Amino acid sequence: MQVIKHINDLRKILSGKREEGLIIGFVPTMGALHQGHISLVEKAGQETDYVVVSIFVNPTQFNDKGDLERYPRDLQKDVDLLAPTACQLIFNPEADEIYPEPDTRQFDFGMLEQVMEGKFRPGHFNGVAQVVSRLFDIVQPDKAFFGQKDFQQLAIINEMVRKLKLPVEIIPCPIIREADGLAMSSRNMLLNPGQRQNSVLISATLSEATNKTTELNVEELRSWVINRINKNEYLNTEYFEIVNELTFQPVMNWNDPCMKVGCIAVQCGKTRLIDNIEFKN
Ligand code: PAF
Repeated sequence: MQVIKHINDLRKILSGKREEGLIIGFVPTMGALHQGHISLVEKAGQETDYVVVSIFVNPTQFNDKGDLERYPRDLQKDVDLLAPTACQLIFNPEADEIYPEPDTRQFDFGMLEQVMEGKFRPGHFNGVAQVVSRLFDIVQPDKAFFGQKDFQQLAIINEMVRKLKLPVEIIPCPIIREADGLAMSSRNMLLNPGQRQNSVLISATLSEATNKTTELNVEELRSWVINRINKNEYLNTEYFEIVNELTFQPVMNWNDPCMKVGCIAVQCGKTRLIDNIEFKN
């Protein structure tokens, strides 16, 4: 497994692989890897011939400078974690390699970026689209793998690929959870023991909520989830919305014939945690 820092070196290696007829798989990450990322890499290994993982903490997607500074970074640990996996190449560029000049592109994702993460983290998805489009241009993968924990990000990336007509297939991969149910996230390592113990209430509440659709209407269930989580002194819900999985419009009624997903963001001390769950009809 090679660690490559420069675009020119990466392009040389990948054009050789393409000439050999290999299908290129790509897993973009910001490092601080965990088993959720490894599951994406393993899926990429099953579906493609040559797997590239990028490790780049993208400054343009952080609307909060403190959050960017706090974001965990440990390249050696990430390299060690990837060594026994299907990953064949790590791309770990510096910021000026990705952004030799400021990226001023403004994407328009309509409703998809006006709710939930888009509303509470203004500019976040524009930064995600900037970096992912740039990375796709550099790596030119046949398939790219993204986790469904970042459900709205996945929708944004699909929309970006559609709008820019990029020749890459986006493969969604299921949320991977800790043994107690907490969705795996690089941010979990920022939690202190008390926060970590209490954060399990997020996934437990979502899971319980899916069994309450016969006794509570959509609005009542929203309130039930928010109140249950906010009663815990460690947790403060930023939003909990039940939305149409495709349009991201709020669902008004359980009888709506769309796929419904409940998306949540919770502040736990200084750490922001997100999760989601599907509500089956
Ligand atoms: O999901 C992430 O880790 C990031 O948003 C991504 C897709 C690697 C872009 O920086």
